[in-house]
Amino acid sequence: MIKPGLVVYMLLVTSLLLTSAMQAETLPQHAEEAHLGVATCASSVCHGSVRPRSSSSVLQNEYVVWSRLDSHRNAYNILFSEESRWIAKNLGLENAHEAEVCLDCHADNVAHEKRGDRFQINDGVGCEGCHGGAERYLASHTDPGQTHQDNIDAGMYPTDRIEDRAKLCLSCHLGDDQKIASHEIMGAGHPRLSFELDTFDVLQPAHYTLDDDYKTKKWSADHVTVWALGQVEAGYQTLRLIESHLSNGKLFPELSLFDCHACHHSMSDLRWQPQRLTGLPPGSVRLNDSSFAMLFPIARVVAPSQVAKLEEQIKQLHRVVVEKEDVKKSVRALNDTLDTLKASVKKFDKLFDKSKSLLGDVVAIGRAGEVQDYVEAEQAVMAIDLLMRATGEHELHKKWVDQLYAAVEDEDTFDPYSFADIMQSATF
Ligand code: HEC
Ligand code: HEC
Ligand code: HEC
Ligand code: HEC
Repeated sequence: MIKPGLVVYMLLVTSLLLTSAMQAETLPQHAEEAHLGVATCASSVCHGSVRPRSSSSVLQNEYVVWSRLDSHRNAYNILFSEESRWIAKNLGLENAHEAEVCLDCHADNVAHEKRGDRFQINDGVGCEGCHGGAERYLASHTDPGQTHQDNIDAGMYPTDRIEDRAKLCLSCHLGDDQKIASHEIMGAGHPRLSFELDTFDVLQPAHYTLDDDYKTKKWSADHVTVWALGQVEAGYQTLRLIESHLSNGKLFPELSLFDCHACHHSMSDLRWQPQRLTGLPPGSVRLNDSSFAMLFPIARVVAPSQVAKLEEQIKQLHRVVVEKEDVKKSVRALNDTLDTLKASVKKFDKLFDKSKSLLGDVVAIGRAGEVQDYVEAEQAVMAIDLLMRATGEHELHKKWVDQLYAAVEDEDTFDPYSFADIMQSATF
């Protein structure tokens, strides 16, 4: 007999499952729908117009922008390069362009039974790699009256929603529980990955415009809000990676989750100094905590009461990792703080107007010499660049921003002391 308690429990479980399904969209690579291939989207009356069209609600030249300008188009071809050959050889792979481990990030690598007639793996990261398999939405997505939500219900991936977009980009640009650019792959010669959502959104040649029509249909926000939410999402994703790759009981942890330069620098280049945010003794391997660094200026504006907790929890995470304790508790705690921070960013509707104080704060961290690791410097520079554009002072201080970029151009020669000097020379 089914007891009332059990029914309530089952209802609870079902509703929990439903809410989590609503919150976390399945990534295009793992969703149900078949991928029909870029050629299906590319006709000149669909998304293959050479010029943008003004008569339609989308530009319709998406294919041309993607195929001529977007590096995702070349993500597969790059697997034939000298560099890729070298990486594959070092890993003992026959070649890179047939290895799942490379294809998972360098192409739209859906299961073979989910590939339509016109699907070609050599299209690289094609339309459906981001927008989801078109099997169910292809016919209907141009119907009059069809809403964005109707498309999503028919399998289109919600690339406009910030959480889902971040999860999608980060799955390849940082890694997730299904794929990771491991230290083995790095050791074989793969470039180090780094990512910042707003910067990379802007760097990806735009095949859409955030005009008024767009804003009524879809989620959108200013660059500062996208940055802030992107940082929170990168924080979550880093925690997921730590949880899935550092608590598996292996003798050696997954080294790609640590700061590469903690180990990779010349022994005569003595860098150690006490770091307030890690609290670790000399000789420790530090987690790559660059996804957390920019959360401080953000929290100081939107949720000041969370700052001390954030600092304590990050420190705690560093400690449990180094001492090889169970990471789960620390990951959960930090995850909860990220929830609060995210809710505060979303509630804080005028973050853009705070660009000046956010900028001042990032520069102050630099001035204080607290940006010691290369990976954090990289995040600080991208933040300063976009915040200065937001305050409208970018042109005025362009020389100084260029100096910052020059300081992070070469990770092997990055010097935290000269970086702090440049920060101190800011004239605002
Ligand atoms: C977790 C995802 C991921 C995996 C796995 C991965 N890559 Fe990459 N790879 C990337 C990303 C993202 C970039 C671009 C980095 C950037 O520019 O920020 C990249 C860049 C590269 C580059 C440099 C491209 C250029 O334009 O200079 C090469 C070469 C490369 N990958 C080869 C490989 C090979 C070979 C494999 C398989 C052994 C592989 N990758 C596995 C995500 C991945
Ligand atoms: C690397 C990921 C990526 C790839 C590859 C990609 N897109 Fe997009 N696309 C986006 C993002 C992000 C947006 C902006 C968010 C949104 O509108 O959903 C977007 C927006 C769009 C829009 C919406 C424009 C509007 O005004 O509503 C269309 C149409 C589109 N893409 C078509 C394509 C086509 C066709 C291709 C292949 C030729 C393609 N995209 C490849 C990420 C991608
Ligand atoms: C399926 C994996 C995948 C997804 C999803 C993905 N990317 Fe990429 N992206 C790559 C790879 C691989 C490269 C490197 C291609 C190359 O160099 O040939 C790349 C390159 C880029 C570049 C050029 C980087 C450079 O150094 O020039 C930008 C910008 C970029 N991606 C932005 C995004 C954004 C924004 C999203 C999410 C909307 C996204 N990507 C989603 C795999 C992916
Ligand atoms: C805990 C220390 C540690 C961390 C952190 C670490 N590595 Fe390594 N790495 C090593 C060791 C040890 C080797 C093997 C060196 C050898 O074979 O001589 C190595 C080898 C390499 C090599 C091959 C070097 C060669 O001489 O062929 C590359 C490239 C590399 N790592 C990149 C990275 C990147 C990128 C990161 C960060 C994402 C990273 N490593 C993080 C310890 C580390």
